[in-house]
Amino acid sequence: MKTMKLVLVIVAIAVALFLIVPSLSWAADDGAALYKTKCAACHGADLAGKPAAKAPSLVSDEAKKTSDADLTDAIANGGKAKKPMHAYANKGMSEDQIKMVVSYIRAQQK
Ligand code: HEC
Repeated sequence: MKTMKLVLVIVAIAVALFLIVPSLSWAADDGAALYKTKCAACHGADLAGKPAAKAPSLVSDEAKKTSDADLTDAIANGGKAKKPMHAYANKGMSEDQIKMVVSYIRAQQK
């Protein structure tokens, strides 16, 4: 009977891992997908920016120095200058989605 319980516990852990691990990797994919649909048109698929659109690189040394808080604010509210084109909090992006894009940008900066 004891071995039966042990087997059940192992199966439960296996199922839990099976459910958790893919959702972690999906989160990273979502950041990339969100960037592609919401940001790439102006900042470029490689995040290098587009001078013609006056969109700055998001992987420059300057961008790397920007704090997570400022980066999040720039995306959610348009930053200190409240640029309307970046007020994604008003354009249907959730806090979680903005966080995903921020971590996607951070990952590309490395
Ligand atoms: C319509 C074009 C456009 C889109 C779409 C866009 N940006 Fe920008 N972005 C710009 C321009 C232009 C600037 C230059 C800032 C300025 O002076 O207005 C900028 C600046 C920035 C900056 C620098 C901080 C700042 O506010 O100056 C960050 C960070 C940024 N964008 C991130 C993003 C992210 C992340 C997305 C997607 C969620 C995005 N942008 C979508 C055009 C765009």
